[in-house]
This record gives sequence, structure tokens and C-alpha cells, in this order.
Amino acid sequence: MILVDDIEKACKLIKDSTYALALTGAGISTESGIPDFRSPGVGLWGKMDPMEALSTDVLLNNPEKFYREGFKILRGMENAQPNDAHRILAELEDKGYINGVITQNIDNLHHRAGSKKVYEVHGNTRTCHCMRCKSKYEFKELERQVDAGIKVPKCPKCGGMLRPDVVMFGDMMPQDFELALKEAQKSDLLIVIGSSLEVAPVCYIPDMVPHLIIINLMKTPYDKSADVVFHDKAGKVMKEIRDTMENT
Ligand code: APR
Repeated sequence: MILVDDIEKACKLIKDSTYALALTGAGISTESGIPDFRSPGVGLWGKMDPMEALSTDVLLNNPEKFYREGFKILRGMENAQPNDAHRILAELEDKGYINGVITQNIDNLHHRAGSKKVYEVHGNTRTCHCMRCKSKYEFKELERQVDAGIKVPKCPKCGGMLRPDVVMFGDMMPQDFELALKEAQKSDLLIVIGSSLEVAPVCYIPDMVPHLIIINLMKTPYDKSADVVFHDKAGKVMKEIRDTMENT
């Protein structure tokens, strides 16, 4: 049940903010058919060990296992479509209410929804690179080689091992994370959508921003310090916020 007062409070926070940002996690994409990681019973980490599936340790020491198992998580998102929550964030950016989206997601749905400033702090599934000569290729090159039965995709130029440009457990954080921190330092309002806020270092970003709106089905460690919390579906809450913003 979404309380009108909470929606009105969220709209006022957004309108009164000087530099608002969104921070999204896998929960914003479940309504697009992409499973998240920690929802009880359905999240991906309930079915496999993340350290076994998406870690640099497995990629480097057992690349055949990585491409046989963990790699599957990274595929198949190109058929997913942005949902209302992605689209409304893009609208809020167009109208100047938010200044960008920091996302932990690698599904490319914020770009496809039209968001312009997207900080992909866990990388992306558009590209991959050679670990020896650093040449860049489309992510499709990995899929093509794996589908052709190649157990560990190789660089067409130098024969080195290819890896996805996704940030995995054990990786350094990418440049987008540094940019996201700079943005958060300028921000006075963070709208968190669909994240358990359990994974460091991204889970420290809400500590950097004075005001918080949290839209998340489950409780998060920041609920107590947030200005307003919605334990409801992202699409539903974002539609209520958009409709109320338009009528006030
Ligand atoms: N609307 C709102 N919240 C939702 C919805 C929805 N439709 N569906 C799921 N959620 C909530 C869940 O209740 C959960 O708390 O989204 C949250 C998703 O949390 P996680 O599955 O932990 O995903 P995320 O926070 O993005 O994980 C962070 O962990 O394994 C790593 O690299 C991976 O980027 C990921 C990181």
C-alpha cells in the first residue's frame, strides 16, 4: 500500500533538490524479466555461489568453468525491455529533476530507456577485451565463440584470453565508479531503486548523500536513515511519483 503522504514527500524532495541522482540495482530490472540476486527463493545467488560463478579467481584459474557456468548469467539480457521505472528515470533526467543514474546493473536497460548520464559501476555486457593485448571487442564475440564450442574465447589478434567488461568479485572498480563518487559528493538527494545495498563499495554511496528515497521490496540497511521508504514495486512507485509530479 503506497501512502499518498509518502509520494508527496518524495515529490517534494525531488523538486526541492539541487542535484539529485538515482542509484539502481537488479531489483529495477526484475519487472523486465531479469532475475535479481538476493530475493528469497528467486534470486540468482540462491541457486549458485557468486564467488564460484562471477569471480576473477574462477575466470583466471578455471576459465573453462567460468565460460561453462558463470558466463550464462551475463547472457540473454539483450531481449529484455526497459520497464516503467527505467523510462520514468529517463523522463526525470530529461526534465532536469535528476542528474544521472548510478547503476550496478549490466543489462544496458537504462541506456535503452533513454537515460543519458549512466554510471555503470559494475561494468557492462556490451563489450569485452583481451587480457593480453587489451584489444576491445563486442560482447557478441564471446557469445559467438562460446556458441561455436570454443571452451575459452580467444583474442582474434593475439590469441590471448578474452574476458567480459563486467566487474566481477575480485576486480578493481572501474572508472565509472570514480565518476559516480564525484557525482555523489555533489548530490543532495539519492533515489535508491531495487538494491539490497549489501555489496561494497557501492553500498557506501548512500552514506555520502544527505537525503535518501528508497524504493525496494525488501528492507535495506539504510531504511532507518532514509527520508522516505517504499517497500513496493519500482514500476508502481515510480508511476505514482511521476503522476504526482505532473499534477503538483
Ligand atoms: N521493485 C522494487 N524492488 C525490487 C523489485 C521490484 N520489482 N524486485 C526486486 N526488488 C528488490 C529485492 O527485494 C532486493 O532487495 O531489489 C533488491 C535487489 O537486491 P540484489 O538482488 O542484492 O541486487 P543488487 O543490490 O543489485 O546486488 C548488487 O551484487 O552480486 C552482486 O554484482 C552483483 O550488481 C550486483 C550486486
